[in-house]
Amino acid sequence: MTVEHVDLPDEAATLALGASLAKRLAAGGCVYLQGDLGAGKTTLVRGMLRGLGHEGAVKSPTYTIVEPYELGGVNIYHFDLYRLADPEELEMIGVRDYFSPDSLCLLEWPERGAGVVPSPDLTITLAVDGHGRKATLDWAYDAS
Ligand SMILES: Nc1ncnc2c1ncn2[C@@H]1O[C@H](COP(=O)(O)OP(=O)(O)OP(=O)(O)O)[C@@H](O)[C@H]1O
Ligand SMILES: [Mg+2]
Repeated sequence: MTVEHVDLPDEAATLALGASLAKRLAAGGCVYLQGDLGAGKTTLVRGMLRGLGHEGAVKSPTYTIVEPYELGGVNIYHFDLYRLADPEELEMIGVRDYFSPDSLCLLEWPERGAGVVPSPDLTITLAVDGHGRKATLDWAYDAS
């Protein structure tokens, strides 16, 4: 419903956007991160997690599919579904319970989990723009 556009001239801007979004998402929800390989999806997640107080590393869950965090009493699951061959694999690895309304799910390549992953509260699309990136934020509700 509400669409926002943000210019991200460098990596620090992506991290800062993540931190500011984290405050708006701290109660939980489902976020789709879209954009080509290298668009900055994991960087944005790193900004979100740091904004919520995470101090350690943020690994890309390309091989593990999901990386769990617990920050401020909220369960946060960072998914990268790029290597998923079939959405049913999510059932097999036992992560359906992760998609609860009071957890925060951050999904790279969400379309590869179609039918299993919930619909998004927020879709973020990242695109390369010169040396930087452009972000489009598409909130499923009126976020103004
Ligand atoms: N706003 C920006 N401007 C320039 N470079 C950026 C920006 N944001 C992130 N980057 C850089 O883009 C590169 C790729 O970022 P990242 O790994 O987050 O992409 P990704 O979308 O998660 O890729 P994948 O689909 O492979 O998981 C990193 O080197 C990161 O520093
Ligand atoms: Mg990534």
